[in-house]
Amino acid sequence: MILNVQKLKKSYSQGLNKLEIINDLNLELEKGSTLAILGQSGSGKSTLLSLLSGLDQPDDGKIILDGMDLGRLGESELTDLRAKKIGIIFQNFHLLPHLSALENVALSLEILKMDKPFEVAKKWLSRVGLSSREDHFPDQLSGGEKQRVAIARALSISPDLILADEPSGSLDEETGDKVMDLIFGLVREENSTLILVTHNKELAKNCEKTVHLNGGKLVES
Ligand SMILES: Nc1ncnc2c1ncn2[C@@H]1O[C@H](COP(=O)(O)OP(=O)(O)O)[C@@H](O)[C@H]1O
Ligand SMILES: [Mg+2]
Repeated sequence: MILNVQKLKKSYSQGLNKLEIINDLNLELEKGSTLAILGQSGSGKSTLLSLLSGLDQPDDGKIILDGMDLGRLGESELTDLRAKKIGIIFQNFHLLPHLSALENVALSLEILKMDKPFEVAKKWLSRVGLSSREDHFPDQLSGGEKQRVAIARALSISPDLILADEPSGSLDEETGDKVMDLIFGLVREENSTLILVTHNKELAKNCEKTVHLNGGKLVES
């Protein structure tokens, strides 16, 4: 099992109210599987992904990624684990604006001290069809191109787990469909493990399994 989540809890204080966003949530995910998490806007999908990636801390519960209990790791160990094991694709790309497309992909490989980071980054840009945009900066790329760079960056490290947060959400429908086809194609080729969060039922059908985030819990559909 690559991911095991037990009784996860996360709430936010809003004035005098406490909003329970994630409430006793459990999840088990096998290596190489693909899971879609469907949920309305505001249901806590992004909150869940930031907990799973260790970017945010739960109030209670456990997240065990590849045998490691995230709650027992310090800040620098978490950063290290995220860099090595998790590929995140965000709705708004999160590219570094002062780096070229090639440098954006190569950076995480350099951080991991991987062999020939620029060669590997070039290969990945070619796999997402962007060889001719290596030296473009993010503001010189279209939305779909930016997302393809982000996909290349996320997958280039061969992560144990790919987390995708509405990756086509800020793209027009046709571009979004192409980006999703690319993600699913690469995930299949690499036999990666994917969690896709989305409010789009059609997109969810591309995953082996779909669950709903409802009332802070995952409910089978
Ligand atoms: N830092 C925060 N402080 C207070 N409330 C938050 C914070 N982040 C998210 N929320 C609230 O938590 C709920 C879930 O947010 P989010 O996880 O972004 O939902 P989704 O991604 O499903 O649209 C929303 O109601 C949002 O307003
Ligand atoms: Mg969200």
